[in-house]
Amino acid sequence: MAEGIALFDVYRFNPEKDSGPHRKKYEVELQKNMTVLDGLRQVQERRDGFLAFRASCQGGQCGACAMRINGRVRLACETRIETLGKHVIHIDPLPNLTVIRDLVVDMGPFWQSYEQIRPWLSPDVHHVEREHPQAPGDRERMDAYTGCILCGACYAVCPAVRRTPWFVGPAALAKVFRFVADSRDGDAGERIEALNSHAGVWGCDTTFCCIRVCPKGVPTTHAITAMRRKLVMKKIKGILSLIPLERESTTG
Ligand code: SF4
Ligand code: SF4
Ligand code: FES
Repeated sequence: MAEGIALFDVYRFNPEKDSGPHRKKYEVELQKNMTVLDGLRQVQERRDGFLAFRASCQGGQCGACAMRINGRVRLACETRIETLGKHVIHIDPLPNLTVIRDLVVDMGPFWQSYEQIRPWLSPDVHHVEREHPQAPGDRERMDAYTGCILCGACYAVCPAVRRTPWFVGPAALAKVFRFVADSRDGDAGERIEALNSHAGVWGCDTTFCCIRVCPKGVPTTHAITAMRRKLVMKKIKGILSLIPLERESTTG
């Protein structure tokens, strides 16, 4: 039995047909514990079969259904309509990415950034031929960074991405740190050095917006500041290593 009606106010745009974006309103018959994704499916089945959106797992695991709901970027399959506390629900595509159609955006720039950072383990050459178990403490150091489902929510809200499209963005940087913190990886130094620029760790404004929207609680900004600290420490060590030489040369 229906538990009332909500009004979905949805962004619509088909670049092949429409001169510009517009909005359409749809009544949604509410059921108990219904999510925004359930509502969008109902609209598609009963009212408008042309409405386009992405979704797959329906359980917060695939990252496909990230969108802006009442102004906040989140997963549609994890957002229960009753928690929104409003009769009218405004639904928009992810910002910072080009709309392909309606709520579907081109994730290309997000994936390109991700590929750039070599998101795979590069084992230390001494360890490739044998099993390399991790102590619980080693595992804990990287745990918080392993939960990313690549939904793109952090990338979509990042002001640095909006301003500087070549900035790799928070998800890619957190993934780098996941390998930097991995005791089995042999490439930590090169990984961080490759991001020692404004396209990398120095491009971030430290606004923490990415952490606020992440559905998996990945501490993206902490990863960025940790890598900055490592780069600064390396620089300081380099400078300090020169000091005895300078003394010798002035006293010699
Ligand atoms: S903290 Fe940095 S990476 Fe995260 S949203 Fe802000 S500018 Fe982007
Ligand atoms: S870090 Fe969080 S918000 Fe960003 S892509 Fe991964 S899961 Fe999504
Ligand atoms: S449908 Fe997979 S995360 Fe929402």
